[in-house]
Amino acid sequence: MPKSKHVQESLTTMTEMVLPNDTNTLNNLMGGRLLHWMDICAAIAAQKHSSRIVVTASVDNVSFAEAIHLGDIVTIEAKVTRAFNSSMEVSIKVSAQNISAGGELLKTHAAFFTFVAVDQSGRPIEVAPVIVETAEEQELYQSALRRRQLRLVLAGRLKPADATELKNFLNQ
Ligand SMILES: CC(C)(COP(=O)(O)OP(=O)(O)OC[C@H]1O[C@@H](n2cnc3c(N)ncnc32)[C@H](O)[C@@H]1OP(=O)(O)O)[C@@H](O)C(=O)NCCC(=O)NCCS
Repeated sequence: MPKSKHVQESLTTMTEMVLPNDTNTLNNLMGGRLLHWMDICAAIAAQKHSSRIVVTASVDNVSFAEAIHLGDIVTIEAKVTRAFNSSMEVSIKVSAQNISAGGELLKTHAAFFTFVAVDQSGRPIEVAPVIVETAEEQELYQSALRRRQLRLVLAGRLKPADATELKNFLNQ
């Protein structure tokens, strides 16, 4: 098995500025463009953890409650929360800043993406376990199992009856 790695070793931060070509007709950042940036940032985090080629396996629900505006600076932070066999869950947090209006940092989006490490032929390959240090890392690590079970149930890859961790959580 590959050598375990700390969460911080996968930490990846990406900064973008919203330009006219990134926006919709209301001059706000298009959701698809943001998802593209999140996917790249999260893939880099998963590559740092696994030292492998990775592919996006799933994207958990992303809510677009806050608009990000033309000219805003967008910061995306991604880190691996937990590794399973070949798959890794990546936590992504997005914030936006209008620097000319004071630069207040607004947390706008949060999501979990799942990546799978693959070999040169695209076959899944084992990844290193994650070592957690902080209380937040520990909480994300523990809750990752029920999120994995939920996404595998929704993808038709796990029978609801076998999603024991998820069932225990829902029955609390
Ligand atoms: C992701 C992919 C490698 C999985 O391949 P597979 O043949 O189904 O392999 P397996 O059944 O062995 O699953 C491998 C891992 O993927 C995970 N996985 C598969 N589908 C998943 C899904 N919808 N959500 C979350 N994880 C998923 C499995 O749980 C497993 O994780 P584990 O090894 O940690 O237990 C394959 O479906 C693929 O290459 N998809 C295309 C990826 C891609 O091109 N992404 C960009 C989109 S354009």
